[in-house]
Amino acid sequence: MTDYILAIDQGTTSSRAIIFGAAGDIIGVAQREFPQSYPQDGWVEHDPEAIWNSVTDTLRQVFDKCPVTPAEIKTLGITNQRETTLVWNKHTGETVYPAIVWQDRRTSETCRQLSEDTALTDYITERTGLLLDPYFSATKIGWILDNVEGARELAEAGELLFGTVDTFLIWRLTKGASHVTDATNASRTMLFDIHSQQWDERLLDEFNIPKAMLPEVLDCAAEFGELDESLLGTGIPIQGVAGDQQAALVGQACFDKGMAKSTYGTGCFMILNTGDTPLMSENRLLTTVGYRLDGKTTYALEGSIFMAGATIQWLRDGLHLIDNAEETEALAQRSRRDNGVFLVPAFTGLGAPYWDPDARGAILGLTRDTGISEIVAAGLQSVCYQTKDLQKAMECDGARPVTLRVDGGMAKNDWVMGFLSDILGAEVERPVVTETTALGAAYLAGLQAGIYDSVNTLSKQWLCETTFRPRLTKAQRDQAYEGWQAAVARIRCC
Ligand code: G3P
Repeated sequence: MTDYILAIDQGTTSSRAIIFGAAGDIIGVAQREFPQSYPQDGWVEHDPEAIWNSVTDTLRQVFDKCPVTPAEIKTLGITNQRETTLVWNKHTGETVYPAIVWQDRRTSETCRQLSEDTALTDYITERTGLLLDPYFSATKIGWILDNVEGARELAEAGELLFGTVDTFLIWRLTKGASHVTDATNASRTMLFDIHSQQWDERLLDEFNIPKAMLPEVLDCAAEFGELDESLLGTGIPIQGVAGDQQAALVGQACFDKGMAKSTYGTGCFMILNTGDTPLMSENRLLTTVGYRLDGKTTYALEGSIFMAGATIQWLRDGLHLIDNAEETEALAQRSRRDNGVFLVPAFTGLGAPYWDPDARGAILGLTRDTGISEIVAAGLQSVCYQTKDLQKAMECDGARPVTLRVDGGMAKNDWVMGFLSDILGAEVERPVVTETTALGAAYLAGLQAGIYDSVNTLSKQWLCETTFRPRLTKAQRDQAYEGWQAAVARIRCC
């Protein structure tokens, strides 16, 4: 009998349920978008019920579209947008506030004030591998407890639970039986000691967060609970969990030190496997948990860019230069080469390695013959240049990626991947299955369920569809990248 694996991929703009065969082949997919809410400048929220409904709907719909039945699913994996913060009442299951999304900057001022204490910022980086920033969950939890009436008292009385999206979903999918997370999601809260793999008492104290709110932290392949029968008519063990970027690392089979993947979704997240040692960055990259299996942690270095696909969305919805993302490839092909146009997409500041929340976007180098093609090409190139920034920072940390595997929507664009390889001066590998995030969650669940005996089996299943090789000389590459660096310097000066 074939072993089928069900994966939930709860992302920033949509939720998906995917059924995989044991070979990593896709049997069925259901996807549903849900609304984004921007109640104030810099705030980004999701309605927890919209997240939940999108997940349960896609879980049911995926079976309408394929011949597999829920009873044939051996195991379930979950992957999720990371850092996004939810707090709910443990008796009623009601959230006390909308989900505060990872992109939300409302706690910038809190972080700025805390950053005056350099001993604290050093401690945070040393213990969590992160930089003090609103991106992570800790200050978001604090904001909820301080701003929702009665929340702090309830939290101190042990009535409220915190979770990133994985924890919230598992809690609901198991009808409140499991309050758990995995080590990758825990590592994004800014409350987790990545060395001891424990919640950090001092940080809980500094951020004023009661420990009783926090979930138990498990390996990525573990027993997370059982899907309540009422959802699909059968109970399915939840056996794999990882934050989406780490799940992609697993889905891309980057199991050896030096292997890296770059996922091009809303943002872009490049993650390099650094093996069993956490490499503390000197170049403002994040040190994080890549995955934890059988109690053994594999660490990773991460560069997070906030605007990748979101830049193309802006060209479509903000400037109305294109009707859909697919058009960008043909337009970019028509653009004049070396046209000197640079688009710096610092719409919400710049992420790694700049971490500059005050920078704002710009298009530079416009001339009378600049047209839509050149601006679209500059938008696409900005994603590649930002990846180059990350590659350089990793190199300065003494960790040059030996392989770069790409995935996510933009990875399907040959023009972008060709330019990426040119500007990196390195080979870029695109796999046959680009749904690597969900695949990673499925693989983790499959490991726990015994479908796979080890990660070596998963490595053998990874198949390359296209390898992009650099076509530029070093001089051409350097010249183009210098143009980008000058453009970034100009927006950071104003
Ligand atoms: O850290 C945020 C990241 O996990 C979000 O990923 O793909 O939902 O934009 P995505």
